[in-house]
Amino acid sequence: MNRPCKAQGEAVRIEDMLLSNGVALPSIGLGTWQITKPELLAELVACAYDAGYRLLDTAAAYGNEIALAKALRSTGIPRDKLLLSDKVWNTSRGYQAVQEACRKSLKKLKTDFLDLYLIHWPAGSKLHPDWAELNAETWRGMEALYQEGLVRAIGVCNFKQHHLQELKKTAAILPLVNQFEFHPGMNQEELLRYCQQNQIQPQASSPLGNGQILAQEELCKIAAERKKTPAQICLRWARQKGVAVLPKTANPRRLYENADVFDFALSAAEMQRIDQLPYCGGLGLDADEVTTFG
Ligand code: A2P
Repeated sequence: MNRPCKAQGEAVRIEDMLLSNGVALPSIGLGTWQITKPELLAELVACAYDAGYRLLDTAAAYGNEIALAKALRSTGIPRDKLLLSDKVWNTSRGYQAVQEACRKSLKKLKTDFLDLYLIHWPAGSKLHPDWAELNAETWRGMEALYQEGLVRAIGVCNFKQHHLQELKKTAAILPLVNQFEFHPGMNQEELLRYCQQNQIQPQASSPLGNGQILAQEELCKIAAERKKTPAQICLRWARQKGVAVLPKTANPRRLYENADVFDFALSAAEMQRIDQLPYCGGLGLDADEVTTFG
């Protein structure tokens, strides 16, 4: 196996979270947004695998599916040792379009199946007066992909509570996962509760607040007291709230740091201190407000 990884570290056994259909989803995966160069992807994938990562998260909109397939081929990691998660973009809404988009992504990724397939953004009311019907139709296409066995699990991203409630009225299968922005300072308490009450596994995009929250004073204080890094504190906090995470890094050494969060637990008092942090960075995109994504 060709392994271009130069970073050394101890492999971590990343714990799984069980989806309601029985699929084991690693609680930490590698986010690949904005990482498009095949060589860098190859190095990251190889390092991530060595560090214990088994879940790779991409999206049609990231423009890196072909590069990721090349990276996987160059590392020689067998397909069945990895879970691939992908997302349908907003230009492919509807029953037929989502199925065609999935087949295109499978071709680009050179794989017969995806482990997880997600709707990237809900249709929102500002752009789509018929948003509820449109989301229901796209979801029907997702269910068809699932029934056909092309995807092992289906879910959504950036859905707010009302999008999920509306979907529930027509869905034969509820989303197994909702991926949304979640990090200290953006606790999303109500959405989290709703997901957990409905057996929808929450998965955090931007669990480090896009890197912007890592200098927050209180977070740094807890990290220093614990002899951990602020990134590890954020990821552990999410873990203890039952949220899977997709920390993104282009730095192979940080892959190890971000996986190494299973050998300590935050106390209830520490969790509360983090819960109370003010908003201090992140992307902050709201599915009902975003109008630039189609
Ligand atoms: P880099 O790619 O240089 O490591 P999020 O996962 O919330 O989107 O955050 C991603 C950002 O956080 C990136 O800018 C990434 O920068 C940075 N980052 C990821 N892991 C760490 C870490 N362990 N320590 C500091 N910054 C990190």
